[in-house]
Amino acid sequence: MIKEVHPLKRVKGVLKPPPDKSISHRSAMFASLTDGESVISNYSSAADPQSTLQCLRQLGVQWEQKEGVVKIEGVGREGFTTPAGPLDCGNSGTTMRLMSGILAGAGVPSMLIGDESLSSRTMTRIIDPLTVMGCRIQGKDGKYAPLRIDKHKGVIGLRYPLPIASAQLKSAVLLAGLFGDKQTEVFEKEQSRDHTERLLGLKSVPHKGGKLIISSREDVIPVQTYSVPGDFSAAAFWLVAGSIHSESDLKLKDVGMNLTRSAAMTILEQMGARFEKSNSREEGREPVADIEISPSELQGVSIDPLLIPNCIDELPILMVAMCFAEGQSVISGAEELRHKETDRLSAMAEILKKAGADIIEKPDGMIINGDRKFIPKPATYPTWHDHRMAMAAAVMATRSEGASQIQDAECTAISYPNFWDHLFELS
Ligand code: S3P
Repeated sequence: MIKEVHPLKRVKGVLKPPPDKSISHRSAMFASLTDGESVISNYSSAADPQSTLQCLRQLGVQWEQKEGVVKIEGVGREGFTTPAGPLDCGNSGTTMRLMSGILAGAGVPSMLIGDESLSSRTMTRIIDPLTVMGCRIQGKDGKYAPLRIDKHKGVIGLRYPLPIASAQLKSAVLLAGLFGDKQTEVFEKEQSRDHTERLLGLKSVPHKGGKLIISSREDVIPVQTYSVPGDFSAAAFWLVAGSIHSESDLKLKDVGMNLTRSAAMTILEQMGARFEKSNSREEGREPVADIEISPSELQGVSIDPLLIPNCIDELPILMVAMCFAEGQSVISGAEELRHKETDRLSAMAEILKKAGADIIEKPDGMIINGDRKFIPKPATYPTWHDHRMAMAAAVMATRSEGASQIQDAECTAISYPNFWDHLFELS
């Protein structure tokens, strides 16, 4: 499906971003690992978290879903049944990597498959530590999905310094650690998103300039009864839309404000964006707030590489903001972007060039020479079926001088099913 996006004269309205994708996945997985019933409100209807629910059903977990409320009957750590067929993770790296940690740890014979994009993403990063832990997990050609998991002779606790700042890798190891004979200790120097630690209530202590996170068979997995906050990564598209339009008055409701996720807001503020937070509160085990966005005059920025893990999913839309910021912006230390749903560095370079922006793609980032008066050329934007490419291109197109087309626009349903309705509500 192609969506036509017309330039917007103004960006006005009140939006409630969709439920957080990362937290939805985890809430369902962890609810299935407890012994009681969990009631999760505001569960995401997006394709990725729905893939997680379908996988859990195939593993014998009973759940029902009505108007965003999911009730899950936990089966406990040892309660999964052997699935009759392959578990389809769709496009979702979080489903595949976290479920692998759980199933390899529990020793449930199973096969995890994914779509073309997921089947081309490396799984070596989880296969290696899980194998050292005594789990039995094999990939096609040693590193890709389909992943085959078999029974093991026992999980050995692991001391593991994270080689990459990846919450999916950290979570896979910690989840397998829930089945270990001894405790598993993951050391992380650069902090990646910490939803797994929060929702499982894992012990996490400062250690040698980083953090040590510990999981073990002794951990009691809490019932997951709460409301999922709005997705900061989805909200980021509107933070940028509101900041690059001179006539904007936009309010976002119930946005997750976890600091391990929300660095894009700090970066945009460094660039001169004007946000006002209100109604700050805790929901579940996560901070939440409403955000008001006012027009601003953006300046270029060099992103501190230490912040990259905390804005990894927002870098594409930050690149769009940088095109409209006066002067040079620099992104470095972001090689991980090449391992997402598509190679997001090369994909964004192509999108920005099509718009006529002045950019240089680097092996680990991008240099963008921005201009507040930049007018993107009307263009037909490819998306590589990557939801964040489609949404970034759409926000870019709202500042163009004519209509642009976004290809494979339905891919936004991976994380944001009503993205197009929200975009068209704005003016
Ligand atoms: C996610 C972690 C990130 C992020 C992905 C969701 C998660 O991936 O890019 O969209 O839910 O844990 P990595 O942990 O591999 O960086």
